[in-house]
Amino acid sequence: MDRIVITGGSPLRGEVRISGAKNAALPILASTLLSGEECVITNVPAVVDVRTMATLLGMLGASVSAEGSRVAVSVQALASTEAPYALVKTMRASVLVLGPLVARWGEATVSLPGGCAIGTRPVNLHLSGLAKLGAEVTIEHGYIRARARRLRGTTIYLDFPTVTGTENLMMAACLAEGTTVIENAAKEPEITDLASFLVKRGARISGAGTDLITVEGVRELRGADHEVIPDRIEAGTYLAAGAITGGDVEITRCQPRHLEAVVMKLRESGAQVVEAKESIRLKAPRRLKGVDVKTFAYPGFPTDMQAQIMALMCMAEGPSVITETVFESRLIHVLELQRMGADIKVEGNHAVVSGTGTLTGAPVMASDLRASAGLILAGMAAEGETEISRVYHLDRGYERIEEKLGNLGAVIRRVKGEGGGAAAA
Ligand code: UD1
Repeated sequence: MDRIVITGGSPLRGEVRISGAKNAALPILASTLLSGEECVITNVPAVVDVRTMATLLGMLGASVSAEGSRVAVSVQALASTEAPYALVKTMRASVLVLGPLVARWGEATVSLPGGCAIGTRPVNLHLSGLAKLGAEVTIEHGYIRARARRLRGTTIYLDFPTVTGTENLMMAACLAEGTTVIENAAKEPEITDLASFLVKRGARISGAGTDLITVEGVRELRGADHEVIPDRIEAGTYLAAGAITGGDVEITRCQPRHLEAVVMKLRESGAQVVEAKESIRLKAPRRLKGVDVKTFAYPGFPTDMQAQIMALMCMAEGPSVITETVFESRLIHVLELQRMGADIKVEGNHAVVSGTGTLTGAPVMASDLRASAGLILAGMAAEGETEISRVYHLDRGYERIEEKLGNLGAVIRRVKGEGGGAAAA
């Protein structure tokens, strides 16, 4: 397995271009199963999760061709309706094929995603929503089996605004008979992006981006071209990287309006942040101030930026309380940060960080995708060398991260290891 080795202490300077959003590309690719005509998706990030989704689509019978950040998919006939365990265990978002498969092809067999480093992450809301749409849903031998002749529109209330759950149900509802209303829907920009792609293909969706989504079912969808939105979590990670190193960075090809909660916290902690139409420049003082952060569903502070902001708070001046409200056990990175000398106490879902302003390089282990990013940031601010193992987590969601950080002046290198690793987070 590869490792990443960082020598801390270099302030980041320069410009970095943000890639397409992994979490938008995944449902968009899954939704190609809803029609036969070719769809051409651009600005698709070259990350492992996207490759996994392309592999899954190929196994199901889709013809997928990728060239750089452009992916073309067409689904003339299905070879299978099964998403196997071997694949789902490496990427939970494989469950996104469930809604499209049932809606267009009448059946789906998808391995039940197991536990995960950041929480139990059930998919009960995906399943109860599909059952409300008229699918027969059962769990057998670790697999979700869902069948329906044609789904029927209905009203679905989500107990929690689940992101992939909203996406799965919105995709399924596109081909249902009649109108579906999703109440307490997730409002993430990735959902709006998926909806705009589906609308281009003939779907009738309104309200995406609000907590009430209405879908009037249609008989079929067409193909369409679509450019994926920029990755707001990658963008936030590079802003945090500039901030933790006392640097001056400009992120380009981003959507500043998707980053408001993150930018507000960076400003509150003392960074100077200037937003333009598609770029953000951040200049950091020598030392930031500790600020409290609580994660929420969008437009709240993203849970996917929690590990990165925690690394930042370790280097800040004064205390801060970081509260995780989205996932129940997403504080595992605390243990690794403590190995780097951080003073953090965990009480329930709160992490109380005493900003000591120093971290020391150490060998650490990544536990999930965003925890890895937090450790990279910590390593860039720490004294001496930090070696991060299990970086396959990082490769699931960050495109060419060593190259991008290296271009900004970070002293970072990848050490190639032997064999691979499976990721469940
Ligand atoms: C998506 C993102 C992930 C991000 C998360 C929260 C993708 C591919 N992944 O994950 O990066 O961290 O949103 O912003 O887009 N829940 C249930 N029952 C369900 C579904 C969810 O109880 O059926 C709970 C989960 O356990 C969790 C919370 O809802 O506590 C939020 O999860 P959810 O929004 O579903 O996250 P994902 O869609 O898996």
